[in-house]
Amino acid sequence: MRTRQLQSLLRNTKRNLVEFKELGGYSEIYKYSIENNTEFWEKLARSRLDWKEDFTQVSNSCFKNGSISWFADGKLNVFDNCVTRHLPDRADQPALIYEKDEPGTEEFVSYAQLHSLVNRFANVLKSKGVKKGDRVAIYYPVSPLGVAAMLACAKIGAVHSVVFAGFSADALRQRIIDADCRVVICADGTYRGGRYINLKSVVDQAIENLDLVETVLVGTRNPEAQKLTTGKDVDLDQALESASDNCESEPMNAEDPLFLLYTSGSTGKPKGLVHSQAGYLLYAAVTTSAVFDCQPGDRFGCVADIGWITGHTYTVYGPLVNGAVSLLFESVPSYPDPGRYWATVEKYNLTQFYGAPTAYRSLLRHSNEFIEKYDRSSLKRIGSVGEPINTEAWEWLHHTVGSSKVRIADTWWQTETGGNMITPVPCDEGAAFKPGSAQRPFYGIEPVLKSADGKTVEGNSVDGALCIAKPWPGIARTIHGDHERFRNVYLNVFDDVYTTGDGAHRDVDGEYTITGRMDDVINVSGHRLGTAEVEDCLAQLEFISEAAVVGIPEETKGEVPYAFIILKEGVIDSSEHKLLASQHVAKVIAKFAVPQDTIIVDGLPKTRSGKIMRRILRKLAASSVQTFAEIAPELGDISTLAEPEVVEEIFLKKCQS
Ligand code: WT7
Repeated sequence: MRTRQLQSLLRNTKRNLVEFKELGGYSEIYKYSIENNTEFWEKLARSRLDWKEDFTQVSNSCFKNGSISWFADGKLNVFDNCVTRHLPDRADQPALIYEKDEPGTEEFVSYAQLHSLVNRFANVLKSKGVKKGDRVAIYYPVSPLGVAAMLACAKIGAVHSVVFAGFSADALRQRIIDADCRVVICADGTYRGGRYINLKSVVDQAIENLDLVETVLVGTRNPEAQKLTTGKDVDLDQALESASDNCESEPMNAEDPLFLLYTSGSTGKPKGLVHSQAGYLLYAAVTTSAVFDCQPGDRFGCVADIGWITGHTYTVYGPLVNGAVSLLFESVPSYPDPGRYWATVEKYNLTQFYGAPTAYRSLLRHSNEFIEKYDRSSLKRIGSVGEPINTEAWEWLHHTVGSSKVRIADTWWQTETGGNMITPVPCDEGAAFKPGSAQRPFYGIEPVLKSADGKTVEGNSVDGALCIAKPWPGIARTIHGDHERFRNVYLNVFDDVYTTGDGAHRDVDGEYTITGRMDDVINVSGHRLGTAEVEDCLAQLEFISEAAVVGIPEETKGEVPYAFIILKEGVIDSSEHKLLASQHVAKVIAKFAVPQDTIIVDGLPKTRSGKIMRRILRKLAASSVQTFAEIAPELGDISTLAEPEVVEEIFLKKCQS
């Protein structure tokens, strides 16, 4: 049975990495990519990208020194690679399918139209004083104008910083200030599940009394909305209409920054990770084609928002650089009913579908009718990203959605890595089906496992901190404005390797299963959140003296934050405080960061040196037992705590709440 399944998969897909096909299959190409790493990437850089000036250096990278550089003396333009060079073959082919919230209201944008739109957009940016190297904030939902905003920056060498249009005004303001953006691009709003969400009012709040921002370019989503509200606002649609569509693309150095993208860490403020022009684009190009078998003209359905790295790499750059048609999905999986994804697959004959386990888990509870009534036979590949995928969701994707024919790509990677790192690659052969396991390193990627004392864990059937031994073109180069932090967080944890922050198990076959974060970062519906960020935010409230936040498992979202707070002396314990705390987190960070519950306690379990024992809080938060005696054995030795008795007190408070 299994062999038959594999044979049918083989027939359905083409071999990838044609450059190396004479070497054989995955194992041979992988071996070559590690042993001849520079030659491997050099060949791909020449065959996959168009250069304005050829490079002579391939890699000059050293994790120890904190310097990473690929193809450094080459010049290219990312927009030309993603759009202009496809015009001779596919000017009239759609580049983007805009599947708007309301079914049946879709729009298509051809490569020729996208080319003209981006040229005009680039001229608008220039007319507002944006130059090569300037940072531009984009607070735009997934849409042709959002994508065009990114590409217009790429065209003129400005550095885009897309802020997910679900982040709060405070979070947006913090990111605008950190990246020093003088121009903000936004839409009046967006629709999600039939509901209009006003985005412009968030931008207005974010830039209130912020002299730094000179111009806000506002695009139209809802023609009825009042979108021009301040003296800084410019009507983007009008500006685009009157702009010329003639614009020279800026030849960019391979190592110039292409974009910043903020992500949470276990401590401190969000980090603006900086991705490069050439290395990032190459990695996006090669992973999109090899992991997803993406061919020119394929209809690639990555439903991630452009506010996340998945949207950058697999909604925008990866599909376009490969000449595919990219789906822009504005809606939610359940609107108007739980068949929306599969209706969309049928409507456009999508060849790839790439989504998140949290959405898959929410859909699999509904009747199979919502799947079976649509034709999904166009799909070659279904991807999953953002968090570990549980076996039930994997089986459902493969058997129910994919009719036992479609290979599932569980893709492990991070904002920092630029593209897929561990995933059953490629689509053409070999790897056994292993639900819940990301399995194999991508070409050129060499995972190593480290033990707590920094030793490399050898052999199979072992666990360790997941690290990557060799630099690869797609890795982020630095944290905007804080290279020391970049080195400390990623490159100096263990010697000579990139530290991912995740743990992994290497199984008997030498393949990898990700076991989850090893730091205080939690993953809420695929959104990364530092528990310290939520704690800092809660501690800002004048009635809170201390807060501890942990992540606990949740069926659909994967994990949710859970808070314990100590009120300041003299403050009377009331449920209003919980409500105020939730509202404050939503305002300062985002709705997804609001704790599932907030327990008011008198003390926190701390070591004698004052470190909060989150392990204990996690157990308490996640448990559903009724008596302390039942949970006590799970808590381990608590006698070394400064005040062991607080643990039972917290348990009782939780039961009462
Ligand atoms: C963290 C990165 C990569 C784009 C989306 C999230 C977790 C991601 C998987 C997976 C297990 C996964 C890791 C990682 N993660 N994909 N397939 N299996 N865990 O990007 O916000 O940078 O988060 O998400 O913990 O470190 P991100």
